Amino acid sequence: MNHFKRTTVTSALPYANGPVHIGHLAGVYIPADIYVRYLRLKGEEVLFIGGSDEHGVPITIKAKKEGVTPQDIVDRYHGIIKKSFEEFGISFDIYSRTTSKTHRELAAKFFKTIYDKGGFLEKTSEQYFDVSAQQFLADRYITGKCPICGNENAYGDQCEACGTSLNPTDLINPKSAISGSAPVLRETKHWYLPLDQHEAWLRKWILEEHKEWKPNVYGQCKSWLDLGLQPRAVSRDLDWGIPVPIEDAEGKVLYVWFDAPIGYISNTKELLPNDWEKWWKDPETRLLHFIGKDNIVFHCIVFPAILKAEGSYILPDNVPANEFLNLEGDKISTSRNWAVWLHEYLEDFPGKQDILRYVLTANAPETKDNDFTWKDFQARNNNELVAIFGNFINRALVLTQKYFDGKVPIQRNLTNYDQQTIEEFVNVKYEVEKYLDNFRFRDAQKEAMNLARIGNKYLADTEPWKLAKTDMNRVETILNLSLQIAANLAIAFEPFLPFTSAKLRKMLNMNEFNWKDLGSIQLLNAGVKLEISELLFEKIEDEVITNQIQKLLDTKKANKASAFQAHPVKSNVSFDEFMKMDIRVGSVLECQKVPKADKLLQFRIADGLVDRTIISGIAQYYPHPEELIGTQVCFIANFEARKLRGIMSEGMILSAEDADGRLILIQPKAQVTNGVEVK
Ligand code: MF3
Ligand code: ZN
Repeated sequence: MNHFKRTTVTSALPYANGPVHIGHLAGVYIPADIYVRYLRLKGEEVLFIGGSDEHGVPITIKAKKEGVTPQDIVDRYHGIIKKSFEEFGISFDIYSRTTSKTHRELAAKFFKTIYDKGGFLEKTSEQYFDVSAQQFLADRYITGKCPICGNENAYGDQCEACGTSLNPTDLINPKSAISGSAPVLRETKHWYLPLDQHEAWLRKWILEEHKEWKPNVYGQCKSWLDLGLQPRAVSRDLDWGIPVPIEDAEGKVLYVWFDAPIGYISNTKELLPNDWEKWWKDPETRLLHFIGKDNIVFHCIVFPAILKAEGSYILPDNVPANEFLNLEGDKISTSRNWAVWLHEYLEDFPGKQDILRYVLTANAPETKDNDFTWKDFQARNNNELVAIFGNFINRALVLTQKYFDGKVPIQRNLTNYDQQTIEEFVNVKYEVEKYLDNFRFRDAQKEAMNLARIGNKYLADTEPWKLAKTDMNRVETILNLSLQIAANLAIAFEPFLPFTSAKLRKMLNMNEFNWKDLGSIQLLNAGVKLEISELLFEKIEDEVITNQIQKLLDTKKANKASAFQAHPVKSNVSFDEFMKMDIRVGSVLECQKVPKADKLLQFRIADGLVDRTIISGIAQYYPHPEELIGTQVCFIANFEARKLRGIMSEGMILSAEDADGRLILIQPKAQVTNGVEVK
């Protein structure tokens, strides 16, 4: 790490088609911000780049739905997102957007450079075209009948009823979502990044040279690489995006995942028009991408391949990706409004940004998915921020006020016990650094909190209020040291709780401060007048938490009501028609993922007669398929057999589809004989 001169830190550019919520903060922006603040405090050269991702199909769909232009949509949400980040102290050096002129030009130039070098494949394929709307259709713009489960409203990229990933040409009776007409197949040309040709160096670079990457990141890269990389299209037929900058490319734009990561570079260029290159091209620059787990393949494989193909850029040194944050046991979901939105949080908890920052870091999904609950939020505030941190600061300041008129007393001879306390908090510095250097923000914050614990213990053990009658010299030293610990807290917590640190510095009259001073007992000079103390944190009452929980329960209720609205009851069937369906129970003998198919699980089912194989599109909801072995599932036994990915599937397994599209197997609650009917 030492050979680097400076660090470029990027954090994923959020799509400008909705506001940001606690999942975004916990997964990406708070960790990135903590890290950057830490480097800045150490006096290192660092740049923190953010921005909105303003292209892509979902933005155009939202615009159509609302009857406005895509530009209207991104203008609206770029503003909201930018404001939320500012309010939460995410200290970007620049927060710009991918519709900027600088970005459009740079992304186009990137494409052109790679194109001129022969870095793309050009391929013509047949894709659906809407004749009445005169445009090619993005996969999401085509609906039709799912060939797997018969759902009439499957999308061109996925059937949300059975979870199977599809190609638009798999759909039966495809329909354009724009005009409703039947699209026709038309030839279209696109440019592909031949990832297969990049595979060898990527393997070596990641698997051999970056073994230090977090296990979740390294593991995901390894499974992608082991499956073998395929060429990926970097252009689309769409009227929203950056035009493909070559001749004969009318109506074609750069694929959003081609242009968005280049946005990191464009935003740097916008900030430093004359000096941006060293942040992206100098091998002495260390590049770090903070992202969520769904972005790993793009940042570890696709974007590095783009940079390599261009030829003049450095590659990331690390990609500290996080897993996901859930909310009260459920996956955060924009469409189900299952989220704590940052702008709403601030309406309910004005001025309390740091509490959320603290809780989200304490609970950060660093190595596995994690859960945010309001009860935990309250407990961490009341039992940690108020009872430990706030309490210590308050005691130190109030005692100083009482005995020394609010002025820092003199530090006299230190006792052995003082020395021992000092050693403890010097050690905290090394622990915090060790964790921060390894992107372990939860542990780092926990260590920083130990400073306050040490302070509390020191006051409790030395009991200056008792000594005040007999040994004022000793009281001077004890309060001086306590205030030095308070000043240490102000430094240690600056990366984590910047608003609190600023308040505390103001109370302590600390002007200059930097990381190197952490551990010092000479941060405050004797005689300096302290500002009258205000409480840093206050208790959160049960009622406030109950209200937040109620708000979520209301959302749940509304979602339940709308499940029937979203999927109205189908037309009636007679008893005879129902009896045609042969639904049975069987035990799972084997269950594994189908190679090279993200969504498919292959089951071997004991059906009481002969065993049978069934393919089901639920792999993403059952990451440990082996755990299903031995359980019982329900399946349609007389479902026409069909071949999927070369495997004969003999039946269909039944699942319930949750409001967010998640599929959950239907399983009998008690063991029954294999092969019995479901009626
Ligand atoms: N907009 C993407 C998402 O929210 C992230 C883009 S990151 C960048 O998943 F690299 F493309 F910028
Ligand atoms: Zn389906």
